[in-house]
Amino acid sequence: MRAYYYDNIPGDQRLPHDYIPSRPVSDETLSSINVKYWHIPVDGYEAKIDAIAKERGYKNRDTINVSKEGMGDIYEEKIKTFFEEHMHEDEEIRYVLSGSGFFDVREMPTDAWIRLAVEPGDLIVLPAGIYHRFTLDEKNAIQAMRLFQDEPKWIPHNRGDVTDVNPHRVEYLKTIGVGA
Ligand SMILES: [Fe+2]
Repeated sequence: MRAYYYDNIPGDQRLPHDYIPSRPVSDETLSSINVKYWHIPVDGYEAKIDAIAKERGYKNRDTINVSKEGMGDIYEEKIKTFFEEHMHEDEEIRYVLSGSGFFDVREMPTDAWIRLAVEPGDLIVLPAGIYHRFTLDEKNAIQAMRLFQDEPKWIPHNRGDVTDVNPHRVEYLKTIGVGA
């Protein structure tokens, strides 16, 4: 996985949006906003994913496929909804099995976008309460495993005044030592 600051230049969300020269983001910065990451090669991944799932209490999982080829006409519209800035009241855990894409997460307190370019073997955990968005890249295909504890609370809460005071958002900011 490569992590770098998003350039904020208007245009197709699927482009890399990497500054020239690139502005890489360190592991320390990612851990300061409580984003976790592992690389587990897809070849023989099961035992390692099982071990992390056990340790972190992820009892359930499923697999999703998103592709232009598979979705047809609704694809373009669908990826625009993934790209709306939002948070969840639970962790968002994804293990990439094939294809690739970008998770953008907000650095705090700068509010800058950090782009996480994920590829097969990348396992990422976005904490509850972090503002983020997702897009496929120009290859237009990704297959990923979603892991979760019990009932997944994947309702997206779009950024706004109401979400800013959501207890999970407030708790997240407290955890990373920002605000309150
Ligand atoms: Fe999300």
